[in-house]
Amino acid sequence: MTEIESVLADEAVFNLDPSNLLSDFLGRDVSAPSLGVKGIHHWATYIGEYRHDTELEEAVSAISEREGIGNVRWGPSHIAPHFYGVSGYWINLDNHGRQLEFFACRETSSWMARPQEERKRLMSHPGLEVDAPELVGPLLEFLAVLGHRTSSLHFEPMDQLGHTYGHLQRIDNGSVIELVHETQSGSLSVGW
Ligand SMILES: [Fe+2]
Repeated sequence: MTEIESVLADEAVFNLDPSNLLSDFLGRDVSAPSLGVKGIHHWATYIGEYRHDTELEEAVSAISEREGIGNVRWGPSHIAPHFYGVSGYWINLDNHGRQLEFFACRETSSWMARPQEERKRLMSHPGLEVDAPELVGPLLEFLAVLGHRTSSLHFEPMDQLGHTYGHLQRIDNGSVIELVHETQSGSLSVGW
């Protein structure tokens, strides 16, 4: 597994303009504030494959010991098996006060048959912060229609971390963007 070091050091991604991220993704110009999108909530990065669950446990404990890392939570991914036919894990943490997600998938023959860049595109994404939980679902549907070659992948009204979120996906290249509202910051330590 790779990239963790560079992701932890990369603060610049949190300064990217949500309007530009959304416009690039949708293939048309939109204003994020006018849609109730107020900033970047988290960045999710695919860090590669594992063969044994113990590799994940080791990675999580190594990350947890680093300075500036807190609130580390992890668990099995529901999206990877449901949409891509491979089991995987998510890791969610605070990095000097900024929220990051990492994903890893099991090294199976069907998953590895996809090019590396595609595996990254399917799992990595920016999470854009939406003003209110009741906006997330309707905004997903609206943007799925507004975008060129986009579809709504998934919607979760309220998970156990206090997140209302959903994902949009480009049907031409598989890239993903998330809309999320966090009601209770880190109040419960169980996963989605
Ligand atoms: Fe995410």
